[in-house]
Amino acid sequence: MAQTRFDRLRNDPRVNEARALLQAALAEHRGALPAEPQAADPSLAAGYAAMLERFASARGRGLFFPYLGSGLGNGAWVELADGSVKLDFISGIGAHPYGHGDAEVFDAALDAALGDTIMQGNLQQNPESLLFSERLVAEANRDAPGRFSHCFLTTTGAMANENAAKILFQAKAPANRALAFSHCFAGRTLGMSWVTDKPGYRVGVPKAVDVDYVPFYDPEKPESSTRHAVTVLRRHLDRYPGQHAFFIAELVQGEGGYYTGTEAFFRAIFELCRERGVAVLADEVQSFGRTESMFAFQHFGISDLIDVVTVGKLSQVCATIFRAEHNPGAGLLSQTFTGSSAALRAGDQIVRRLTDGGHFGKDGRNAAIHARFLDHLERIAAAHPEWVQGPYGVGAMIGFTPFGGDAKMAGALLRKLYDNGLLGFNAGAQPTRLRFLPPLLVVSDAEIDAAAAILERTLGEVAGA
Ligand SMILES: Cc1ncc(COP(=O)(O)O)c(C=O)c1O
Repeated sequence: MAQTRFDRLRNDPRVNEARALLQAALAEHRGALPAEPQAADPSLAAGYAAMLERFASARGRGLFFPYLGSGLGNGAWVELADGSVKLDFISGIGAHPYGHGDAEVFDAALDAALGDTIMQGNLQQNPESLLFSERLVAEANRDAPGRFSHCFLTTTGAMANENAAKILFQAKAPANRALAFSHCFAGRTLGMSWVTDKPGYRVGVPKAVDVDYVPFYDPEKPESSTRHAVTVLRRHLDRYPGQHAFFIAELVQGEGGYYTGTEAFFRAIFELCRERGVAVLADEVQSFGRTESMFAFQHFGISDLIDVVTVGKLSQVCATIFRAEHNPGAGLLSQTFTGSSAALRAGDQIVRRLTDGGHFGKDGRNAAIHARFLDHLERIAAAHPEWVQGPYGVGAMIGFTPFGGDAKMAGALLRKLYDNGLLGFNAGAQPTRLRFLPPLLVVSDAEIDAAAAILERTLGEVAGA
């Protein structure tokens, strides 16, 4: 087969030898990491505290957790720069599905490091960008061949949504309004901070988009909550005829608290959107790869109703995937950086590992991860109903309400979990919920059991405090 000079570099025997040596060193060092929480090394404590202070000074605000990774990890286990070891079940809020120190991701990064540049974008695209774009479009088309045609890469989830919004506004100009579900999170760019339904996140930010909100599904009242949502949607559409360009929807509400709807609910909403010529934009920045299908819209069986989808986090490089009819005019989208070569190679590999590794379907690994967590959470809830309540999320997005959703107790639990060696994060408000996003490509059943044991012990400590 014809080869480029770069192919010859990649296959140079010295490169292969160095790769094998590096992989052996990584395996040895990550293998030496204990698979249980470890306290900090006292000799590193002063330097660590100083780094945290410098970080707070550099960014103008302290970090949420006093977390600075050392650079070494072993799957779900991570070493911090103070020498402590923790079980990472939040993975950067879903950004590191391979956990820490993954051999295959390391290999992808080595290939990228041999490349001529660090970043790709606008005038500097290498084949990685093409292959990843094609893979995402092919995955989006799995249940509906030919539905999606194009993919525009970018570096953040908010920017993927921003690009989607621009495409859809342009396609329906001069429409200037958007629709969204209450409590949604879409990112924090100027535009997206007006879509995100959290006034505290846009204090002092001039209005960029007019958004009308529709209440989300309530599992306690499936029919009446669906009817109510449709009524509210219809009222918005009637009040501003022809002015809505799109409905942006998280099918699993992430920051909003790990709530989800049903096919019937989403059909009722999105079919009305279609009737009124409003495009549907699925924001899958958090749900991508984590339900029982690659995309949550496939999980809910509504591929036929989605016009644009955005992905991020787990995909490493974020993207806006859209239909031919929404292909924007020249000049609307362009970016100096769309992703680093390492992120592009890793993202492509992650998506492939999800499909090849049996993560999807009713009997797939994502469903099994959920079922194992559910067993633990239901067992704890049965013994202590005031400690833990559902709903419990979907697939490898695990959520629960601790202590009736009391914000103070939930905050105390989160901090104590951190101290006890388990990383999670909060979600939603009134009630405040907790969530886990375990590194789904590598997490073992034993690690889920270990996390549940830490959680149960810590719930007891907080309840007794
Ligand atoms: C559903 C959803 N959309 C958009 C975003 C924004 O992504 P980013 O933080 O990469 O800009 C997030 C981030 O949490 C998200 O969960």
